[in-house]
Order: sequence, then C-alpha cells, then structure tokens
Amino acid sequence: MGATTSVEVEGRTLLMHRVDESTVTAYSNVCTHQGCLLQVVDRPEGTAYACPCHGSHFDVETGKPFGGPARQPLMDYEAAIDGDQVVVKL
Ligand code: FES
Repeated sequence: MGATTSVEVEGRTLLMHRVDESTVTAYSNVCTHQGCLLQVVDRPEGTAYACPCHGSHFDVETGKPFGGPARQPLMDYEAAIDGDQVVVKL
C-alpha cells in the first residue's frame, strides 16, 4: 500500500493516496454524511479516511464509505503523477 496524507491546496484540504508508481487519488476531506472533516487513520486493516462525528470510514483508493452512516463516496479530484510532481485539477 502506498503513502497517504492530507495536503492544503488553495484553501482546501485534499486527502491523497499513492496507489502505485503511476496512480494517485485525491478526495475532498468533507464527509458525505453530514459534512464533518475527515482524518487519515492507520487501522490494523489498513489506512482509511475516518470521520470523527459518526464513525464513517472511506476507502483511500476508491473513496467509498464503510463502517458508518455515510452512503455516498467522497468527492474526487482528477489527480495524476507527472515526473516527480503530483498534479491535481481543482
Ligand atoms: Fe461523517 Fe456523520 S458526518 S459520519
């Protein structure tokens, strides 16, 4: 599994995950249940994005929810690896 982190870009917080050498994902840090702000958490089952309000978790690769009341996946941003940089379309 690749690296996972949150980054600040132009006033937004993006949750980013390096899937492999050529793939990166970028999601909004706003929970799709009631809008709380997500955090990166390391769990025994693997890294996830977790909501502190009602316990929803989101898959770092797909943005899909599990383990809580959220039903919609996270809003995603188009992200790509270009050389040694990551480019995100906001
Ligand atoms: Fe995130 Fe309710 S606001 S689970």
